[in-house]
Amino acid sequence: MCGIVGYIGYREATPILLTGLKRLEYRGYDSAGLALLEDLPRAVTSNGTETALVTGTRLVIQKCRGKVTELEELSALTPIHSTVGIGHTRWATHGAPSDINSHPHTDQNERLAIIHNGIIENYGQIRDRLAARGHTFRSETDTEVLAHLIGEFYSEERSLTEAVRLALNEVVGAYGIAVVAADDPNEIVCARKGSPLVIGVGNDNEYFVASDAAAIIAHTRQVIYLSDNEMATVSRSGIKTRTISNIEITKNIEVLDMELEAIEKSGFDHFMLKEIHEQPRTITDAMRGRVIEEEGDIVLGGLQNQLRDLRRAKRLILTACGTSFHAGLIGKYMIEQYARIPVEIEYASEFRYRNPIVGDDDVMFGISQSGETADTLAAMREGKRKGARALGIVNVVGSTIARESDGGVYIHAGPEIGVASTKAFTSQLTVLSLLTIMLGRMRHLSVVDGRAMIRELLLIPEKVQRILDDSEQQVKEIAEIFKDATNFLYLGRGYNYPVALEGALKLKEISYIHAEGYPAAEMKHGPIALIDENMPVVIIAPHDEVYEKVLSNIQEVRARKGHVIAIASEGDEKIKELAEQVIYIPRTMSLFTPMLSVVPLQLLSYYMACARGCNVDQPRNLAKSVTVE
Ligand code: M6R
Repeated sequence: MCGIVGYIGYREATPILLTGLKRLEYRGYDSAGLALLEDLPRAVTSNGTETALVTGTRLVIQKCRGKVTELEELSALTPIHSTVGIGHTRWATHGAPSDINSHPHTDQNERLAIIHNGIIENYGQIRDRLAARGHTFRSETDTEVLAHLIGEFYSEERSLTEAVRLALNEVVGAYGIAVVAADDPNEIVCARKGSPLVIGVGNDNEYFVASDAAAIIAHTRQVIYLSDNEMATVSRSGIKTRTISNIEITKNIEVLDMELEAIEKSGFDHFMLKEIHEQPRTITDAMRGRVIEEEGDIVLGGLQNQLRDLRRAKRLILTACGTSFHAGLIGKYMIEQYARIPVEIEYASEFRYRNPIVGDDDVMFGISQSGETADTLAAMREGKRKGARALGIVNVVGSTIARESDGGVYIHAGPEIGVASTKAFTSQLTVLSLLTIMLGRMRHLSVVDGRAMIRELLLIPEKVQRILDDSEQQVKEIAEIFKDATNFLYLGRGYNYPVALEGALKLKEISYIHAEGYPAAEMKHGPIALIDENMPVVIIAPHDEVYEKVLSNIQEVRARKGHVIAIASEGDEKIKELAEQVIYIPRTMSLFTPMLSVVPLQLLSYYMACARGCNVDQPRNLAKSVTVE
């Protein structure tokens, strides 16, 4: 979704802001803009001969609909000498993507500029009130209303920080904001509620502001995370933090655990392909230091204080959105089979509003790559409110879900830049496998079985590597054959039913082909009506307990002339007679097959999108982390 970057220091702000915005492009956006405080004096030439000297500070706004490169071109037309500025990538909520709706927005007198992530829910009332006082609005956005409100409070007697604080006290909604003003040229004021904000502490009195550490990692690793209802005044001489109810607070500087190369493409054409190829390593990283092979047991550091609750839990509740939800669905199957604990899995967006029954015998896990998904966060807060222990399975270290959880497990997949989630999914599955073994060993799983599961799990990275080595070219060719299809069906049973959902989601997201995932047996109850000679059907059919049943489903598709692309276990010759295309994956225990079967599906969606000329890493309308509901 929207991205924020800010800079105050001694260097030229424009290139720092533009590079920061490029680092945020992966989050999804439709327009971009800068607000710069131009350092004066400046010589202004008029009539070709006369030269006047202008002093003071000037607020300059440069913004446009489109990509950051377009903003860069615009900005190059009028170079501005500035060492303080803020930049934004906007993902439209209020008002269509357009130059005028792009951020930054200014107040009535155009003295201050604001960039904003989130939604101001009561902007309509505030706008009416300000309009009655003579304000005129240029855009359709909630953000411009906030700019005007801050402007109302901002005066010679009242600092920018105080004006922002008073305005925020009137606001209902979610925000991460950064504000600059020409009359206070030596500071950036920022604040957060429900939308992440991090302040980077550089060397030599320079500071950065960002909604995502990726925007500033090239400059510093030392950061301060703002929490909800906190604000900061960032100047060259330091950072002052307070709550929006005006209580001064001291924040600790933390060190970012992120490498610059992790957010670069490293020779791959797209981040998505790089991330698919990283999976042998990221799965290993998710297991690192957590496995006690001899004891057939698992140690998850972030759950050590929760062991009592986990041991006596009557039920686990998993909640998540999108791909993380699919991982959770597989987690339910695993945990129920091996730990024999009832597990409910629910879309966070449903859970948060339907008044679910939750008690203090329940332990809840929010699963989220970004750790910022608004629905997942709200569902966890709701579960907590009702007495459950709320734990996180999260990728982004220091994210809101990670910070608000009572405990949890990082998946350690590293930054995931491609909008389509790939490596985070297999790392989530790895952590859910570890959790299954740990919970199983607390209850019904023997040391021998625990050990056997661990040994097999440790082989998964190598098996994923084999799939990448052996099937990538074949998948590319299959993508060429089916690239013009308009519909796809994905079928799987048991552990591979959620993989069918995930395969269909991946295809929809980046190739814009309509795709549906179904439990294979459900096909007869409706979707079979769609099958004809134009319908490719991807069927996940590893050699597991439901293999024979899946073969019957393949027959049903073939009988209606559908094109079957099967994902099957190595050595399965029988399936070759039934399916048009067979992609082989190594054999493993059933519960681990999703970590293998999903890989060809990730590659298929990737190569389909490439063959159709789609923007793989930044698909239309999508945002990497969905911080609004
Ligand atoms: O960051 P999260 O895991 O909480 O995100 C949840 C979904 O928004 C996310 O998985 C989305 O569905 C991806 N684009 C899937 O590829």
